[in-house]
Amino acid sequence: MSYSIAVLPGDGIGPETISATLGVLDATASAFGFAYEIERFAFGGNAIDSDGDPFPASTRAGVRAADAVLKGAIGGPKWDDGAVRPEMGLLALRAHLDVFCNVRPVRRWTTRTSSPLKPELAEGIDMVILRELTGGLYFGTKELDADHGLDTCAYTRAEVERIARRGFELARTRRGLLCSVDKQNVLSSSKLWRRVVLELASEYPDVELSHQLVDSMAMKLVEQPAAYDVIVTENMFGDILSDLAASIGGGIGLAPSSSVSGSGPGLYEAIHGSAPDIAGSGRANPTATILSAAMMLRDLGESTAADAVERTIIRLLETGPVTPDLGGDATTESFGAAVAAAVPNAADEVVAR
Ligand code: NAD
Ligand code: IPM
Ligand code: MN
Repeated sequence: MSYSIAVLPGDGIGPETISATLGVLDATASAFGFAYEIERFAFGGNAIDSDGDPFPASTRAGVRAADAVLKGAIGGPKWDDGAVRPEMGLLALRAHLDVFCNVRPVRRWTTRTSSPLKPELAEGIDMVILRELTGGLYFGTKELDADHGLDTCAYTRAEVERIARRGFELARTRRGLLCSVDKQNVLSSSKLWRRVVLELASEYPDVELSHQLVDSMAMKLVEQPAAYDVIVTENMFGDILSDLAASIGGGIGLAPSSSVSGSGPGLYEAIHGSAPDIAGSGRANPTATILSAAMMLRDLGESTAADAVERTIIRLLETGPVTPDLGGDATTESFGAAVAAAVPNAADEVVAR
C-alpha cells in the first residue's frame, strides 16, 4: 500500500518534532513494507507570514486530498496580537475535515516520568479522553468590543450523540468503563449532553456508565487517575482535562492524539503546543508526535507497524537516553534517530513471534 500524507510542520517546536517523526516514519515504512508520499503545506503562524492566512487555500485542498494529515504544533508570541491568529486556522482545519472525535490516550508510558504524582498514584494510568472537537464554545457565536466579550456554547442532539456513541464503542473494546463529563448543574448544553448520553446507555448494557461534573472530575483525575478508562466530554472541558491528564500520566511531551470523522482523512497531532520557551533549543520531546504518527498508521491499517513504533518508544523511554523533560540530555533529533534505528528490531520480533 502507498499512502499520501499531508504534513503541516507548524511553528515553534512543531517543525522539530515533525522532522524527528518523519525519520521514524521512513524507518518504519522500510521495515514493514509500506510506501508513502508526503507533501508539506504552510499552516499556522508560518502561513500567516507566507500567505496572510493561517489556513491558505492550497493547504485546504491538500489536506482534503490526502489519506491522513500529520501536524506539528502551531502558534507563538509573534502572532499573538495579530488580527488573525494561528489558532483560528486550527479550528478551521478541524471543521474543514469534520474531525469531531478527538482521541487523546493518556498512559503511563514510562516509570522515568515527569508526573508530579506519587508513583503509587500514577501507577496504572491508562485512559482515553474523547474530546468533542467541532462544537461547543470554540465554534459558537463570538462578539468582542472594548466593553463586552461573548462566546456561546451550543450543542445539538446529533453532535452529542455521535461523540457519545464513539465513547460507548471504545469502552467496549477496553475495560468497559465510560465516564461522561459535563456541567449539567449549570449549563443547558450540558443538560442536553447528559440527557443524550443517558438515552444511549440502554443500547450499551455491557458498558458501565458514570457521570461526573467537570470540576470534581479535575479533582478525581489527580486523586485516582488509574480508575478511569474512557472519558467523553465536550470541546473545552476536554481541552483542559487532557492537559491535566497528560501531566499526571508522565508529561505533556508524551501525549498524542488523533482526530477523526466518519470518513475522510484523520488529523494526527500532539496535544501540546509550540512551546516557545524551548523552541530552537533541541529540548522538545518528539514522543507525542511520534505516537500520533503511530495512531495514524493504525488508522491507515498498518497496525503491526503502529505496535512496533509504540513498543520501541516504551523501550527507549525506559532504558535509553531521554529528553530534558524526562531528566535526560537527549535532543529532539537524537531521540527521534534512536527510535528510527530501533524500529526494525521491533519488526524482527513481530516476525519471530
Ligand atoms: P505548550 O504546550 O506549548 O507549552 C506548555 C509547557 O510545556 C512549556 O513549558 C513547554 O516548554 C512544555 N512542552 C510542551 N511541549 C513539549 C514537548 N514536546 N517537550 C518538552 N516540553 C514541552 O503550551 P502554551 O505555552 O500554553 O502554548 C504555546 C503556543 O502553542 C500558544 O500559541 C498556543 O495557542 C499553541 N498551542 C497549539 C496547539 C496545537 O497546535 N495543537 C496546542 C496547544 C497550544
Ligand atoms: C489543543 C490546543 C488548541 C485547542 C488551541 C491551540 C486552539 O490547545 O489542541 O489542545 O484549544 O484545541
Ligand atoms: Mn489544548
